[in-house]
Amino acid sequence: MAGFGNVNRALVRLLARKQQELRALGIDYRVTGVGSRRLGWIADPEGLDLAAIEAGSSQRSRLAPHASELCKWLGTAKADVLFEATSLSVKDGQPAIAYIRAALESGAHAITANKGPVIHAYRELTELAAAKRRRFLFESAVMDGVPIFSLFRENLPAVQLRGFHGILNSTTNLILTGMEQGLTFEQSLSRAQQLGIAETDASHDIDGWDAAVKVAALVTVLMGIQMRPEAVKRQGIATLAAAAVRQARAEGKPFKLVCRAHRAGTDVEASVGPEQVPLTDPLALVNGTSSMICFETDIFPALTITENDPGVETTAYGMLADFVRAVGD
Ligand SMILES: NC(=O)c1ccc[n+]([C@@H]2O[C@H](COP(=O)([O-])OP(=O)(O)OC[C@H]3O[C@@H](n4cnc5c(N)ncnc54)[C@H](OP(=O)(O)O)[C@@H]3O)[C@@H](O)[C@H]2O)c1
Repeated sequence: MAGFGNVNRALVRLLARKQQELRALGIDYRVTGVGSRRLGWIADPEGLDLAAIEAGSSQRSRLAPHASELCKWLGTAKADVLFEATSLSVKDGQPAIAYIRAALESGAHAITANKGPVIHAYRELTELAAAKRRRFLFESAVMDGVPIFSLFRENLPAVQLRGFHGILNSTTNLILTGMEQGLTFEQSLSRAQQLGIAETDASHDIDGWDAAVKVAALVTVLMGIQMRPEAVKRQGIATLAAAAVRQARAEGKPFKLVCRAHRAGTDVEASVGPEQVPLTDPLALVNGTSSMICFETDIFPALTITENDPGVETTAYGMLADFVRAVGD
């Protein structure tokens, strides 16, 4: 496990809870390596005492020496799979890309919840994985583990995706819901922060960057056009006045931060911005931290997926499902 924050810790709990189901699929596991800047890079091929690591009281004698290089750490851990869940770097996707590359080079599957490697190195890592007969999978990178990428890869053969629209950022949707309920922007943001949904610095969400990164990842993988987040026309919600948000809801056309992507000739045009949505549109019913995506395809005119009240467990589940896909074949 590269990174040992909310997601990988939730994955550890979920793997333990689903041990029986995994065994029924012929899969057993042990966690043999954990790494982060603060923890260092810990490895033991016999399995790690994760509770001790989480509590910060692991016995150093139980640990293999710190690996100065990632390959050495992977080798010491004898890793079959790397679960990559380090922080997102929108600028260059590092160090996640380097970790995933090293894992694939060493013969391990690479599974990530991180959007960085998808927007910056999807093609390269997919090709490397294929050359090494391993999998590079990232179901949890968009919509917290809801099966979107695998839906197209495994269940919609030969379908052409013409475009999609949806609500993909929980923080801004929660803030807008709070403003509709009478809070100011600042009060609603502060409530989202108290609930642990919004970061202390929530500008990445509020300015529409998180949604733009997700749109770029979906376009890159599902529409086959390499798209960077900067190419997504972007407007956040900071300029929306609370009174306007309340009035819009009262008039039956609430504001939502809507993501859009559509083919335009050989290219794709994509945008993120606040829109007033009529109540007849399912997007208007998406409140709080929930999200929704509607795919427009040549076969299914509108294939819609709604995710109500996601949590870190659903993100961990996306990684577990990728794990089964990678090693269960
Ligand atoms: N939380 C969610 O529900 C969710 C949902 C979908 C996707 N994701 C994605 O999943 C990833 C992890 O999210 P999270 O919520 O678990 O974040 P988090 O709690 O902040 O944990 C991030 C982990 O990455 C480590 N890390 C950061 N920079 C590193 C570096 N340069 N080298 C090694 N380790 C590093 C951190 O430890 P140190 O500080 O010790 O290095 C920490 O253990 C992110 O990319 C996020 O965008 C999260």
